[in-house]
Amino acid sequence: MQIYINGTFYPKEEAKVSVFDHGYLYGDGIYETLRAYDGYVFHLEEHIERLEHSAKLMEITLPLEENGIMKAISDTLAGNGLKDAYIRVSVSRGTGEIGLDPELCPVPTFVIIAKQFVDYPTELYEKGVKIAVVETRRNHPETLNPAIKSTNFLNNIFAKMEAKKAGAFEGIMLNHANFVAEGTISNVFMVKNGELLTPPLIAGILEGVTRGLVIELAEKLEIKVYEEMFSEAALKDADEVFITNTTMEIMPVREVDDKTIGAPGRVTKMLAEAYRQEVLRALKMGIRAD
Ligand code: PDD
Repeated sequence: MQIYINGTFYPKEEAKVSVFDHGYLYGDGIYETLRAYDGYVFHLEEHIERLEHSAKLMEITLPLEENGIMKAISDTLAGNGLKDAYIRVSVSRGTGEIGLDPELCPVPTFVIIAKQFVDYPTELYEKGVKIAVVETRRNHPETLNPAIKSTNFLNNIFAKMEAKKAGAFEGIMLNHANFVAEGTISNVFMVKNGELLTPPLIAGILEGVTRGLVIELAEKLEIKVYEEMFSEAALKDADEVFITNTTMEIMPVREVDDKTIGAPGRVTKMLAEAYRQEVLRALKMGIRAD
């Protein structure tokens, strides 16, 4: 396995960053998770845009422009002989003396890890997963803004620990105003009376690339979509629930805490099928990172 660090490839065992890296010292960094299907990095531009957006909000100057990032990603895939891949791009503030001042770190640390994509078990898509509404709240947007895909993930890790204890696949966090926000690594959708609801960005969530595509697909399928706040009670009273992210795509939910939602419903299935078609369409168009 070859890891990209600031323009050079290192074998996994030698791929190391300094203990003075502020990503390590303070969680001062950002990242993106991408997925490649048959050599095609799905929604590559959207992910790079979001990385740039996160960097801007953190006042990190990325060492590469869009084309450079694309090339670095495709070189990493090629160097590892990967077609179906999980790709993680991380950018930390960089190495510097101990201290919070970002000026201590003149050069960001830019890392790309790519590995063989391992599918989630088919059974999860067929039967749906259990999710738990956890006590840990999503960060208030005026603290660590959830719009930043930051490597400072402690809040979500606390939520994940709670979810694990509840025997759940994913933990759903409420926001400061008691409305449903999002999962630890996913966005959440519910269906009621054939209509789709998902929390709006102002609920304090990450603007998921998959979330954006699902909204677009729903509109094409003439399913009404509302980006609206909803409560935990509404989530439990939904006809269908699913969660989304780049790696799992659309994952049906069969249980929210002890409330059974049931097998994947009609709208979830329609959207999951449309998503698959969209991936195939992108593949046919032959747009690749290289
Ligand atoms: N997580 N919300 C949070 C907090 C996330 O971390 C993610 C993605 C999403 C969904 O975003 P997208 O659809 O762009 O993948 C929502 C990635 C997969 C991760 O942490 O690895």
